[in-house]
Amino acid sequence: MSILTPSDDTLQVAAAHLRTGGLVGFPTETVYGLGGDATSERAVAAIFELKGRPRFNPLIVHVSNLKMAETLAVFDRRSRFLAQRQWPGPLTMVLKKRPDCPVALLATAGLDTVALRVPDHPVALALIAAVGRPLAGPSANRSGAVSPTTAEHVEREFGRHLPIILDGGACRVGLESTVVDLTRNPAAILRAGGVTTETIAAAIGELADPVPGPDAETAPRAPGQLASHYAPRLKLRLDPTEAQPGEALLAFGQHALEGFEAVVNLSESGNLTEAATRLFAALRELDRPEFSGIAAMMVPERGLGVAINDRLRRAAAPRK
Ligand code: TXA
Ligand code: MG
Repeated sequence: MSILTPSDDTLQVAAAHLRTGGLVGFPTETVYGLGGDATSERAVAAIFELKGRPRFNPLIVHVSNLKMAETLAVFDRRSRFLAQRQWPGPLTMVLKKRPDCPVALLATAGLDTVALRVPDHPVALALIAAVGRPLAGPSANRSGAVSPTTAEHVEREFGRHLPIILDGGACRVGLESTVVDLTRNPAAILRAGGVTTETIAAAIGELADPVPGPDAETAPRAPGQLASHYAPRLKLRLDPTEAQPGEALLAFGQHALEGFEAVVNLSESGNLTEAATRLFAALRELDRPEFSGIAAMMVPERGLGVAINDRLRRAAAPRK
């Protein structure tokens, strides 16, 4: 009984729960978030606890609009311009915290920066407005696992430990937001996501070299750049040339691969937007004990394909 249809009444119930430090599963255009009052150390601690998330990995803080964002972080011409272009939308900006920023220290992992975004989803925006406070919201999955793109996915992750999940249907984008660090010059993409690098570069010009991928031997530059992430329970391998016994296939576009136990094609027509929307649900669908593993075709490394391949590489990375 935890999935609620959004209405004035259920939004008020969810907002009241958030104001007393409770957590709520909520839809965004990217993936579902595990929301808590970002100004409450107790609520933020509960998010880390429920996700099993390492405390050095800071959370994204969701706000209603640029005006609310400016109460938390310092904006300059470049960040304001980007916000005006891309918010609401799947872009998260890492900015210097204001000295009077009320966000819980735990949410920013003690850093002097804060990651902000305005989600492009009516239910998320209505919820923030109803609470009247910024919402910390990592993806609503246990740390390291596949991100949720439906309310049912969230329910399967947390069961009775999360009594309120607002149902906003399937997420339109299907991949997390792009995280861009605007405290440096040039700015740097810390996580590929729903807004392409090309779009960001077109708005603000030059970007620093991309952060090394999961197989880089150097320490991760963004706390959240952990090598193994988005991982299904089954072992996942990339770029199959043939089927191994009992394996399922995550396919893309036209291909000649045969002999798999099951096949889910992210987009038969080779459309990257469609593939992004379906990626996480497809990984969950194939993650079944009757298969021996999942073989995943990579997608073209352009546009949204960069973020899709990033998720696939991390899903395939060695686990601790
Ligand atoms: O689309 C999304 O971004 C979803 C939806 C729910 O909004 N949220 C999400 O949050 O993916 P999360 O917590 O799973 O990812 C936050 C990412 C991590 O990679 C984290 O390391 C990075 O943002 N991050 C957060 N604060 C940061 C900071 N101050 N400096 C650098 N990276 C930061
Ligand atoms: Mg996540």
